[in-house]
Amino acid sequence: MIPVTKPFLPPQQVYQYYLDGIWKRNWLTNMGPLASDLELKLKDTLKVNHLLFVTNGTVALQMAIKALDLKGEIITTPFSFVATTSAIVWEHCTPIFVDIDEHSLNIDADKIEDAITPETTAILATHVYGNPCDVEKIETIAKKHQLKVIYDAAHAFGVEVNGRSVFEYGDISTCSLHATKLYHSVEGGLIVTKDAALLKRLAYMRNFGFDGPESFADLGINGKNSEYHAAMGLANLKYLETIHHKRKELTARYDEKLKNLKARRPVWHSASENNFAYYPLVFDSEELMLQCVELLKLNEIFTRRYFYPSLATSLPYVKPQDLPVTGDIAQRVLCLPLYYDLTLEEVDLICRLILRVQNN
Ligand SMILES: Cc1ncc(COP(=O)(O)O)c(C=O)c1O
Repeated sequence: MIPVTKPFLPPQQVYQYYLDGIWKRNWLTNMGPLASDLELKLKDTLKVNHLLFVTNGTVALQMAIKALDLKGEIITTPFSFVATTSAIVWEHCTPIFVDIDEHSLNIDADKIEDAITPETTAILATHVYGNPCDVEKIETIAKKHQLKVIYDAAHAFGVEVNGRSVFEYGDISTCSLHATKLYHSVEGGLIVTKDAALLKRLAYMRNFGFDGPESFADLGINGKNSEYHAAMGLANLKYLETIHHKRKELTARYDEKLKNLKARRPVWHSASENNFAYYPLVFDSEELMLQCVELLKLNEIFTRRYFYPSLATSLPYVKPQDLPVTGDIAQRVLCLPLYYDLTLEEVDLICRLILRVQNN
């Protein structure tokens, strides 16, 4: 069986080393030494000034919206994971979807201004598959209309634009360290901001708003993460380069084998490089894509229609919006298996089956 993704696991003794320390200290959660160490190491790895290790990528988004005091309408993308939109609604704001660009598959920055109303307070955009949005254009629009910008960078671990971490763009970026992500801490998330005062507010928020054992600085939630999760994050950090190298190799093999397939790859931001988080393909037709899904499934190979359906038409708590590009792409997009343990021979098999469908 070949799943669409499989979590990376470090050698067990590497994790055990951290567990031994947890047992010795008997400090299991509440910003323990491993969580603090992970934050320091991630700041260094990602070259960012401030970040917080939190429960998961969804809570990170909710905290970001709360910390920026957003109200009213938030302009967002319908081509993302449900958490991008649900976080907006959870925080009592209204998502206003803007269609995506057919090449990058990110929110179409040229269509954002048309969606701005007196109620708009922010833009929440996703770097889809790790591919950076048009961050410069979005920054210009945000400045002109005095809007806040949050990036859902759940897929964008390790991505840089113009030589800077993509997490440095916008007022806040959030990331997911879920087990399925290319770098993970089993469950986990990151909140990144350049603004020290905002970071302080978010740090209070993460811990129920406490600013001492008997006093509160702000409204808060339990956004903390545990020493066990931090331990997995620290263990996995040692393998970042190995993971990156393998995913790059697998991606190149797919590209080479599928060059004659009637499908295309998203166009990557010209000042950035792929982090190989996913292997998405936009097929020329939904029919061809579905036939491939079926033949692969018969061979116990699993793919994922990611993202399908469009968030603009599928959420019972959001007024549907008709967005032609998103509707069309969501029908034809498919992510192929990509994970550290996948072999080149397995990629070859997947490609042979896909091409057999096309050539039949
Ligand atoms: C684009 C996007 N946003 C948010 C999330 C939510 O992250 P988490 O699962 O860590 O809560 C995910 C996770 O899959 C995601 O892909």
